[in-house]
Amino acid sequence: VLVVGIGAGGEEHLTLEAARVLGEVDCVVLLDKGDELADLAALRHRILARHARPDLRTRTLPDPPRRLGSGDYSRAVSGWHDQRAALLADALADELAGGGTTALLVWGDPSLYDSSLRVLEQVRTWLPWPVEVRVVPGVSSLHLLTAAHGIALNRVGASVRLTTGRRLRDEPPGPDCDVVVFLDSRHAFAKLDPEQLHIYWGAYLGSPEQLLVAGPLAECRDEIVRVRTEARQARGWMFDTYLLRWQT
Ligand SMILES: C[S@@+](CC[C@H](N)C(=O)[O-])C[C@H]1O[C@@H](n2cnc3c(N)ncnc32)[C@H](O)[C@@H]1O
Repeated sequence: VLVVGIGAGGEEHLTLEAARVLGEVDCVVLLDKGDELADLAALRHRILARHARPDLRTRTLPDPPRRLGSGDYSRAVSGWHDQRAALLADALADELAGGGTTALLVWGDPSLYDSSLRVLEQVRTWLPWPVEVRVVPGVSSLHLLTAAHGIALNRVGASVRLTTGRRLRDEPPGPDCDVVVFLDSRHAFAKLDPEQLHIYWGAYLGSPEQLLVAGPLAECRDEIVRVRTEARQARGWMFDTYLLRWQT
């Protein structure tokens, strides 16, 4: 099983290795996230049309809905992983029974805020034969963000923490540590003390619809909230990431 990073928004953000293996695999398994993320599915299909064999088999699995609500977050996520694992195990048991290779396409890079590798670990224990898993890296949204703003990720000698919108308030940036935030649907940056903070924000990175805003947080936060809200309403979904940099 090849876990292939396909980039986080553009058709050209997969590696030459990813393009080659997509041209070699027998089957690709896709998780369907519903109409809301139809744009993302369309990109996957364009990538396959460009690189895969004409006789490639594709299997689309319905992605179980994530019901994170107000309950226990870790339990909700792990219940969701179990459902994904069961669906994937059925598909792989079928596809790999006679040997061959199957690829899972992963948004961005498989190592960054993605559960595919964890889910596959579980799936492997259920399959009746040993399965080799290989990861092919892809360009992540983190690197699309720094490239789009033309900046280095880290300040000289300083650390960078990767976190989620949910955790930002408990782990804010400081003089020794900048922060990159993923999965923030609630404008967590707008609740921080903006003093000494600079923000580099990007949405739909790598795609023709890419949006960028950068500057002192105190000056930019209202604009980002407005741009983000309008874009989300217009497209029906939003993927954004930002770096909060401490100004010394
Ligand atoms: C489940 S994570 C997947 C990250 C992915 N594996 C990667 O390497 O970028 C989804 C989050 O990544 C960020 N993200 C993914 N694609 C993005 C894009 N094109 N533009 C901005 N942020 C993106 C957003 O924070 C989004 O909520």
